[in-house]
Amino acid sequence: MVGTLRRSFLLCFVTCIPALSLAKTKAPHGFNEPRSDALDSVNLYIGTTGTEPNKAGGMIPSVSPPFGMTRWVAQTQVSYVSATPYNASWVLEGAEEENNKVHGFMGTRQPAIWMGESGSVAVVPGVGFEREDGTVDLSSVKASFHERGLRVVGSENAGELDYGRQEVVSPSYYNVLVDDGTGDEGKILSEMSATSRVGHLRFTFSPKSGAHSRPRPYILVEAARPSIITSTPSNVTYPEGHVHINTSPKSPFEICGYSTERQDSIITPVSGQDAANQFKGYFCARFGFQATDSLVYGTIQNGSVVLGGREAAGPVLSAFVFLPEGKEGQVNVRVGTSFISIEQARANIEAEIPNINETTEPLSDHRQVGTLEWTAGRVRSQWAQFAERVSIEVGGEDDYEAQVMKEVFWTGIAHSLQYPSEQSEHGRYWSGYDAKVHEGESYTGYSIWDTYRAIWALQIMLVPEHIPGMVRSMLQDFQQSGWLPMWKNVVETNIMVGTHADSLIAEAVLKGIPLSAAEREIAWDAVWKDATVPPERDWELKYDDREEHVDYEVRAGLSSVYNVDGKGWVADDIHSESASRTLDYAYDDYAACVLARELSKPDNVTKFLHDRAMHAPFTLFNEATGFMEARNADGSWAGEDKGWTEGDKWAYSFDVVHNVPELIDRRGGKVKFVQSLEEHFEGGHNDHTNEPSHHIPYLYALSGAAFKAQERIREIAKANYNNRPDGLTGNEDCGQMSAWYIFSAMGFYPVNPVSGEYVVGSPFFERIVFKVPNPSLNNELTTISIRAPGARTKPYVKSLSVNGDAIKVTILRHDQLLGKSRKVDIVFEMSKTPEVWGNDPEVLRALGVAFKINQVGGEVKLERDEL
Ligand SMILES: *[C@@H]1O[C@H](CO)[C@@H](O)[C@H](O)[C@H]1NC(C)=O
Ligand SMILES: *[C@@H]1O[C@H](CO)[C@@H](O)[C@H](O)[C@H]1NC(C)=O
Ligand SMILES: *[C@@H]1O[C@H](CO)[C@@H](O)[C@H](O)[C@H]1NC(C)=O
Ligand SMILES: *[C@@H]1O[C@H](CO)[C@@H](O)[C@H](O)[C@H]1NC(C)=O
Ligand SMILES: *[C@@H]1O[C@H](CO)[C@@H](O)[C@H](O)[C@H]1NC(C)=O
Repeated sequence: MVGTLRRSFLLCFVTCIPALSLAKTKAPHGFNEPRSDALDSVNLYIGTTGTEPNKAGGMIPSVSPPFGMTRWVAQTQVSYVSATPYNASWVLEGAEEENNKVHGFMGTRQPAIWMGESGSVAVVPGVGFEREDGTVDLSSVKASFHERGLRVVGSENAGELDYGRQEVVSPSYYNVLVDDGTGDEGKILSEMSATSRVGHLRFTFSPKSGAHSRPRPYILVEAARPSIITSTPSNVTYPEGHVHINTSPKSPFEICGYSTERQDSIITPVSGQDAANQFKGYFCARFGFQATDSLVYGTIQNGSVVLGGREAAGPVLSAFVFLPEGKEGQVNVRVGTSFISIEQARANIEAEIPNINETTEPLSDHRQVGTLEWTAGRVRSQWAQFAERVSIEVGGEDDYEAQVMKEVFWTGIAHSLQYPSEQSEHGRYWSGYDAKVHEGESYTGYSIWDTYRAIWALQIMLVPEHIPGMVRSMLQDFQQSGWLPMWKNVVETNIMVGTHADSLIAEAVLKGIPLSAAEREIAWDAVWKDATVPPERDWELKYDDREEHVDYEVRAGLSSVYNVDGKGWVADDIHSESASRTLDYAYDDYAACVLARELSKPDNVTKFLHDRAMHAPFTLFNEATGFMEARNADGSWAGEDKGWTEGDKWAYSFDVVHNVPELIDRRGGKVKFVQSLEEHFEGGHNDHTNEPSHHIPYLYALSGAAFKAQERIREIAKANYNNRPDGLTGNEDCGQMSAWYIFSAMGFYPVNPVSGEYVVGSPFFERIVFKVPNPSLNNELTTISIRAPGARTKPYVKSLSVNGDAIKVTILRHDQLLGKSRKVDIVFEMSKTPEVWGNDPEVLRALGVAFKINQVGGEVKLERDEL
């Protein structure tokens, strides 16, 4: 989903502008254990918010483990809906003054650029002054975002690395060197890592005495900031926060508290508001020193400092502590975060980043428990555990382009393992649907309109052990709110259309993800409800995108003529986005039908769902124009630009993934269909920056023009993915952009996710090996090896085999990949010129592609007509 942010042209990124040096993203010595080429190729600048929001991927260079609850990031701008905390415009445009400052380090939960923040906390280093009389000058503590920004400085080692900036970015470790703001050339090295719920920050101050009196380092913790609601920067509100300073001599010094900020609160479904409003993002920042009598600390509320203040509540709130004498060099801060309580935030510290005195764990290596090295190494292992399941050989020359492809691929893997993110804390979770603490696992950050397409299929393949918990989490949401999630960001936000959780669940069940009988029944109730129960006051209320003051949107328009015999569409004169809804609901009906079949529901139930799924899409097909078109309740056409969500008639007229054969028929048969695909691409209508176009190039392979699919996929990969901050032309959409690339690199894509089939395209690499837990074998490992010798320079497929058996169709089935076999060998024979495999002579003739069977040497050749 690109939201309101759109972009319709492509730039020649790869060839026009130099890449970021890889060295920049590599963790320094001591932080790159365990060794992993894959992790060293992750470039978290890819997809970072850039100068033009609609160029940006919306994923930021944050540290956290896979699916981490709270990610930590350097703040370079005020974040809100449409602005993430990190803005990489400096990479694209050189070191601009504004974005080249760091304003603290934020524990963020903003899942995507168009979503809001929830309960963030920021930890900000600074250097103040001591007066002649030995007291600290409290006015030197900078709390507001703009005042506290510190200029990023290059280090001696910068070399060719950067654009005036020194920063090390990896999924498990980050550092940046900043000027300390005193005007005397002192510097602060800020380093961080993070476990799922605990940030680990280490600040090394090197203050310089100069014209001013003695410099004194401090740390500020921000609990409540002025918060911009919606994407209107002038719409500022003041959510309340709370801070409490713990100076007990028995424990380390702590600043704890909570933030009530939740920037999506205005789009929470109305029946859920009361519970959701009880949301609090708790934190407890534990410092690497004890409280002493001489310690200088306090609170700052809207600019007023209370020296020695230990407790405060209200808006615009921070607390600070000056480092104790003798600690000027370095300080560690571990920040536990929680949705449950401050006590739980503390428990999370002890469970995830204990210090040596809090753990009984044996020291397994040279790193000391509780040091940043220990934390970062542990988090790196968590990433490596998943990254090691995949290996690639790019092939061809190890040149610039190969390097770009590697970075895009590995960054894509890292992006694929961020969402949904954990909302549970060691077996318990706070639910935003009923404001209670429950036992179990919970996840949030579901951009399902995007993620049902391919990223879910990738996660099922790569991390199947996480899927049951993710499904259970959705079922809990259903039990607590009455509905499955559409776009859950702590609670539901009603963004986008369709009830595609139906698809996630059906696909998980189809692919053998283990769920108990009771869970399957709850899943069925939830999916059946989506298919049959419309939202509140379906005929009266407007359920537009980000509509405020409405209840759960679910399938708005379900009660209109979608269900009327002889009709079967969502009426455009009654409901917004009616044409997209019709097509999406039909697909969801198909997904529900698959689930019904898998759960052996009665025939009349599967028939009902199947009939509706097959009938509804074509009620929109306008024979006169050859395109899909929205319709009014009385059956009249609404106009070809009406009723679409983030797409147009071009993309959506190819959007019946569950019945491609009939789509081809309706659009005039294979030849006409391929010609319309040609018109779509040649006319510049394919918009890979948004999801409705993602499956379209693969449709060539289902209509007798596999070689065209192979060409288009390569073109799209090249034009829309590179290793710069604007290297994803569309929003990452919680991993969907990257999932397209990863599947395409493997040589196939789940056009219809609940079919259990993948459509064959053109593999990019010499070899990709997945060694993954296989749900069909109780999660014992299966090795899937995909070989495509010469793929770097040979885009066309000449033949395909699975374990030696020739595959004559352009489809691979999931059970061929992850069935009962422990070892699966997929071999693509590649070619520099088009081949007959997957192509239909009639279609080729119509496309003007000459082909001849060349019997010499048994070679079968296809030649492009030069006319
Ligand atoms: C990033 O910063 C640039 C320069 O200040 C600004 O033009 C752009 O809008 C910012 N991008 C986002 C997404 O906030
Ligand atoms: C400003 O925020 C309020 C909620 O505090 C919201 O109701 C209103 O729609 C927002 N206005 C704009 C212009 O975004
Ligand atoms: C902050 O202080 C200013 C004056 O110093 C006042 O006008 C403003 O209302 C205060 N804001 C809040 C949120 O307390
Ligand atoms: C652990 O406890 C000992 C003895 O109380 C103390 O000297 C040491 O500083 C503590 N270590 C850490 C990392 O807190
Ligand atoms: C299926 O048949 C049963 C038993 O006759 C009936 O109760 C149920 O409503 C039917 N369901 C549908 C969707 O037609």
